[in-house]
Amino acid sequence: MPSQLFTPFRLRESVLPNRVVVSPMAQYSADTQGLATNWHLMHYGNWAVSGPGMIIFEAIGVEPRGRVTPRCLGLWNEQQMRSLKTVVGFCREVGPAVLGLQLAHSGRKGSTQQPWVGPNVVGPEAGGWEPISCSAEAYPGRPVPHALSQGELTELVANYVTSTRLAEAAGFDLVELHCAHGYLLHSFLSPLVNTRNDQYGGDLAGRMRFPLEVFRAIRAVWPAGKPMGVRVSATDWKEGGWDVADSGAFARELKALGCDYITASSGGTAPDQKIVLGPGYQVAFAAQIRAESGLATMAVGQINEPQQAEDILQAGQADMIALGRGITWNPRWAWHAAEALGDKAPFPGPYARSHSSLRFSDFTVKRS
Ligand SMILES: Cc1cc2nc3c(=O)[nH]c(=O)nc-3n(C[C@H](O)[C@H](O)[C@H](O)COP(=O)(O)O)c2cc1C
Repeated sequence: MPSQLFTPFRLRESVLPNRVVVSPMAQYSADTQGLATNWHLMHYGNWAVSGPGMIIFEAIGVEPRGRVTPRCLGLWNEQQMRSLKTVVGFCREVGPAVLGLQLAHSGRKGSTQQPWVGPNVVGPEAGGWEPISCSAEAYPGRPVPHALSQGELTELVANYVTSTRLAEAAGFDLVELHCAHGYLLHSFLSPLVNTRNDQYGGDLAGRMRFPLEVFRAIRAVWPAGKPMGVRVSATDWKEGGWDVADSGAFARELKALGCDYITASSGGTAPDQKIVLGPGYQVAFAAQIRAESGLATMAVGQINEPQQAEDILQAGQADMIALGRGITWNPRWAWHAAEALGDKAPFPGPYARSHSSLRFSDFTVKRS
């Protein structure tokens, strides 16, 4: 019987050849102008040839202050668009994966070093910037951010719209809006951070208002045939914070605005979060959001075993499975998972004789 994991999945006009998704993972390897480099060709090309159904490019800043580090990708000008278009074209040449990108704004967690260099804040003298947020509430250990005025919020929506248009010009199939991990849009959602007393704060409806305005604006300029998703932190893992019921309500609003799926991640707002880690630790959030909103969901977080991924889909907890660290460790994960489940993943012709079904045969015979 064919597996669920290797059954195609349709999102509007995009058909994923299977449900294996490469989760967005920031590489902090752009040049200082936010342009994609040879690192990105290697990084994304590596998976494009290796059979996943979809690759979602890392968090990409919608303005200079939206990057996490001065070495993050940006998408606010034509030059950046062309650098990403090169990577998109390269990936399409070598494999059939649907190609998405994640539009992001780091908010109060922006302007830090590349993580392997250190956790330090980068000041404006070293290419950094004054971070912005919904409120002048600092992430512990970081500078107090500038709280955005209503006029500045309007400008920011325009930046998201520009980036969305540039994403279309670069040839992406899908946009995922980053509303997770304590970055800007998650800060608006979370009562732990959002202390505004205008219409963008207060109750759940007020806190959701700005992220929903951004989604509505970018959906309006993204082609109707192309899918859009949203990544949420389903819970802040902290008393009095954003929780999975709030995420269900947010998903229902997003669905009404034309969202096609939710990725259920978690945490990132508070360093003293009480996170419970373990295999598939966020899967229950994907299941609850799916049940409460009727939207497709993507499960992510310590899903490393093919049968584990298959079981999540079989149980109806999610529709797609995203992998981050595990598929970085083993970029051919989709091939190996297909073999383990007795199924097939896209496999390039030039590699045909290396496939496990042919590898142990006499290659001199196959060659003739
Ligand atoms: C190096 C690295 C960079 C990441 N960057 C992003 C990012 O840009 N956007 C995002 O939403 N999640 C990001 N994440 C989180 C992953 O997408 C994923 O949700 C997380 O690693 C859990 O999945 P895993 O257990 O399969 O790694 C990153 C994770 C890693 C390890």
